[in-house]
Amino acid sequence: MAIQKEHWGSRLGLILAMAGNAVGLGNFLRFPAQAVQNGGGAFIIPYIVSFVLMGIPLLWIEWSMGRFGGQFGHHSAPGMLKELGKQRWLKYFGIFGIFTNLAIMSYYAYIESWTLGYVWHSISGTFSGMDMHQVSSYFDSYLGTGTGTIINFSEQAILFFLITLALNIWVLSRGVNKGIEMAAKIGMPLLFIFAILLTVRALTLDAGENGAINNASVGLNFLWYPNFDSLYNPKVWLAAAGQVFFTLSVGMGCIQCYAAYLKKNDDIALNSLAAGFTNEFVEIVLGASIIVPIAVSYLGLDWIQANVGFEMGFRTMPTLFQNWGPILATIAGLSWFGLLFFAGVTSSLAMGQPVMAFMEDSFKIKRGASSLILGVLVLLLSAPAVLFYEAGAFGEYDYWAGTFSLVVFALGETIIFVWIFGSNKAWKEINRGADVKIPVFFKFVIKYITPVFLIAVFVGSTIKPLGGEWGNAFYSLVTGEGWPFAPDSLIGMIFNTGVSDKRWFIDGLPTTIFIKDATRLLLLAVFMGVGVAIHIAFKKKTRRKRTR
Ligand code: ALA
Repeated sequence: MAIQKEHWGSRLGLILAMAGNAVGLGNFLRFPAQAVQNGGGAFIIPYIVSFVLMGIPLLWIEWSMGRFGGQFGHHSAPGMLKELGKQRWLKYFGIFGIFTNLAIMSYYAYIESWTLGYVWHSISGTFSGMDMHQVSSYFDSYLGTGTGTIINFSEQAILFFLITLALNIWVLSRGVNKGIEMAAKIGMPLLFIFAILLTVRALTLDAGENGAINNASVGLNFLWYPNFDSLYNPKVWLAAAGQVFFTLSVGMGCIQCYAAYLKKNDDIALNSLAAGFTNEFVEIVLGASIIVPIAVSYLGLDWIQANVGFEMGFRTMPTLFQNWGPILATIAGLSWFGLLFFAGVTSSLAMGQPVMAFMEDSFKIKRGASSLILGVLVLLLSAPAVLFYEAGAFGEYDYWAGTFSLVVFALGETIIFVWIFGSNKAWKEINRGADVKIPVFFKFVIKYITPVFLIAVFVGSTIKPLGGEWGNAFYSLVTGEGWPFAPDSLIGMIFNTGVSDKRWFIDGLPTTIFIKDATRLLLLAVFMGVGVAIHIAFKKKTRRKRTR
């Protein structure tokens, strides 16, 4: 058994790092957009049910898998999975745990870098006096989009991206304790201060004050007034489950990696709940109290429902802050983009660490070198996502790595942990050193309900019908017209459903379909490349063991 060399410095540091891993751009940008697009109060019930029946069990599973693997000297998914059973394929399933982190980091760090760029522009007064149209156009010029060309970039977007990536690599090169834990101890309190400042300002907005047309309560009521009809709507369930995945960072392999730096009898039951609930507090209390209430106060509910999206935080918020006068607008801009930046960094660090740990554990590469290799890999892999952002490469990364892979990995690891490793051993592992008693009911949930839930999410995402209209889809099926797959269902994605002209080149120039297909091939190649690396790594290990 390999000796564990690195550990978390303190319980607080561990919880902050794990919470930082989860709290990310998803909490402040993705959650509000998903909630609004899925009916506000209608979203929240499936979201909470998904959190309890899928999110919490996955946290316990991933934390214990990680701590267990760490005892054998593994800090990334392939090795950890290998220790859970005798099947030789187990380690290869760990491809997901490396691929997903690498690919997500490659586009996530780019968005993270926009927030750094926007911190700079908020402080330097770029947005002062701009109306909403100008701020929105500025965002296009920042990204180099909207030009009608297939390649988009701007020098400043690249510059801020390089700075962001270098910062991530530098922190990672300092190690778990002096790098990641330290960053979480600085970043998370700042994030809280910024978020609370903005929440207080948002919640005290009254109609008629500073140009607001609505009280903040209009947006809040929309998000929080429960609508039980959604319980019968699979579309909302899929969106809610997808958000729980993304926000908790489950199904990625990064929680397992952080948990591998725990000691054998360190608590998991309570620590994982502390980190998970911190994430939920930040998401549904702070995340829900900023962008939606402020935007609804100024632009009205109808406008938000028609225009909400991931980019709204950049295209809209800088203008709305202007209503509060130049000084407050600067503070609000700094707080908003600053909190996004810290949320992003503490998450992208968690994506980098498993990739580095794999290199260090398997190929005995030193930390400094592994961080540099990671930097080069992310830089190379981010190039298509950055340059072909508008042509759809970015969206492909987000779908295949940031959505599809998470569900597959979570489903597979749950089955492996509970059914191959064994539910009794799994339950014992989760409860070893526990500071709270987990109700035995959850043993049943983990064994049956969570896997069934995950299978339902997987099947649902595979055959999602057009517009999420399941009733119409069944009708269409029984009347012989076939199943209308949504373009963003797995089947729809594979066959580029809804695209009438699928040519790769027109007049000698590549089309967006070409970019999308090429991106998929690239991601597939990376996936297979990780598989080859795992194969070589474990062959080497077996040889080393034999010669001992
Ligand atoms: N969990 C991270 C987020 O919410 C990835 O952004």
